[in-house]
Amino acid sequence: MKVVLIKGKLVDLCVLDPQDDLTAYERWVNNEETTQYMAIGRYPLTARMLVDYIKKYNSSNDFLLGIFLKIDGRHIGNITLHYIDTQNKSAEIGILIGEKDCRGRGYGHEAVAILAAHAFRKLGIHKLTTGMVDGNIASQRMFEKVGFKQEGRLRESFFLNGHYYDSLRYGLLFSELKEG
Ligand SMILES: CC(C)(COP(=O)(O)OP(=O)(O)OC[C@H]1O[C@@H](n2cnc3c(N)ncnc32)[C@H](O)[C@@H]1OP(=O)(O)O)[C@@H](O)C(=O)NCCC(=O)NCCS
Repeated sequence: MKVVLIKGKLVDLCVLDPQDDLTAYERWVNNEETTQYMAIGRYPLTARMLVDYIKKYNSSNDFLLGIFLKIDGRHIGNITLHYIDTQNKSAEIGILIGEKDCRGRGYGHEAVAILAAHAFRKLGIHKLTTGMVDGNIASQRMFEKVGFKQEGRLRESFFLNGHYYDSLRYGLLFSELKEG
């Protein structure tokens, strides 16, 4: 029985349990195209490693939630709220829509928007941050649609296949959140 933490119109964000079926998750993180702009995917990840990752993640400073379609309960991706800093009231968001046929349908936007609303209203977070590799247009546009603004560029900080890429830093304040 899934524990739904945050309900949306298209997706629900549910607590991931190490006992859950992680087959889809294992497939996503080992898919070169899916992880091309991500820090994961550089070396193979087994289901066992993902179980350890989930256990490590779900603490008071970090949590990892599954993104499930409301229409059929399919697990399509994961979203994280991490580096929760209770002094500065900030936290970082990360997201992966693993199922390719589910990208570009508004699921990523809704997942980030409802997690951001939860972080601001329920957790008292003042500022959310995120980052992506320069060139990950889908990620940039999706976060911008939620209201995130670009705040910085870290030069040549992402190394992949013999090349260095810049990383972009984005931030969001509660007043800037676009929920719809
Ligand atoms: C990046 C990602 C999370 C975006 O989620 P998504 O569900 O595909 O995005 P959405 O459908 O919610 O799109 C929101 C907006 O972003 C823009 N967008 C999405 N995909 C786009 C693409 N491929 N190219 C250009 N703009 C795009 C659109 O403006 C869209 O709004 P619109 O449909 O009203 O025009 C998803 O594609 C993904 O997980 N990719 C692989 C892993 C990854 O790169 N994760 C992010 C690491 S930082």
